[in-house]
Amino acid sequence: MIINVLTLFPDCFSSFLSESIPKIAIEKEKLKVNFIDIRDFSGNKQRQVDDYPYGGGSGMVVKPEPLIDSIQFIQKGKKIPVIYFTPQGRLLNQQIVRQYLIEPEIILLCGHYKEIDQRVRDYFVTDELSIGDYVLSGGELPAMIMIDALARLQDGVLSDIDSALTDSHENGLLGHPHYTRPADLNGMQVPDVLLSGNHKKIDEWRQQKSLEITQQRRSDLLDK
Ligand code: ADE
Repeated sequence: MIINVLTLFPDCFSSFLSESIPKIAIEKEKLKVNFIDIRDFSGNKQRQVDDYPYGGGSGMVVKPEPLIDSIQFIQKGKKIPVIYFTPQGRLLNQQIVRQYLIEPEIILLCGHYKEIDQRVRDYFVTDELSIGDYVLSGGELPAMIMIDALARLQDGVLSDIDSALTDSHENGLLGHPHYTRPADLNGMQVPDVLLSGNHKKIDEWRQQKSLEITQQRRSDLLDK
């Protein structure tokens, strides 16, 4: 999969991509992440890409031309989805991640400052995603979240694909508790069933715990 990130701050991403699962996905050539610095399309010596909002008010707006030029530089006439990160977008979830997993190439557009020019959103952006009901300074952190969620699902990246399939949210529920050695930690015991070797019972226990935790913490998921 190719992920093109359009950003004013490409340097933000370097440590994130050089560790853990994103690093493995890139090394195994399952994922390629390209960075396009929106300022390279500013068209002026000062590399300025923002301007005052029409109608007045606080905050600056990212100008449309550098955004459109950088999108078209990537698309070159091809239909590549353009995802814009904004608190106004639909809330990102595992189903949406899987929707994009089947795309060979996507564009992640990171806004900054107050907003980007609405015409880019109306005519060039194909989807708007939010990572939660709070406001960040820009789309870089949401883009990293999307890259991470996609990287770990690429074929051959996780050593055990079952591990991804039993994650929270994969089946619409939160995950069950996990334990490792020692079985007795100063009197804090691992549940007997997990030591029993009876895989049918273990599966039932995990399913039951998954349901209980979802009921307690996110009953809205059960309604869905
Ligand atoms: N940009 C700023 N805040 C955001 C959020 N909560 N989700 C996605 N993009 C954002």
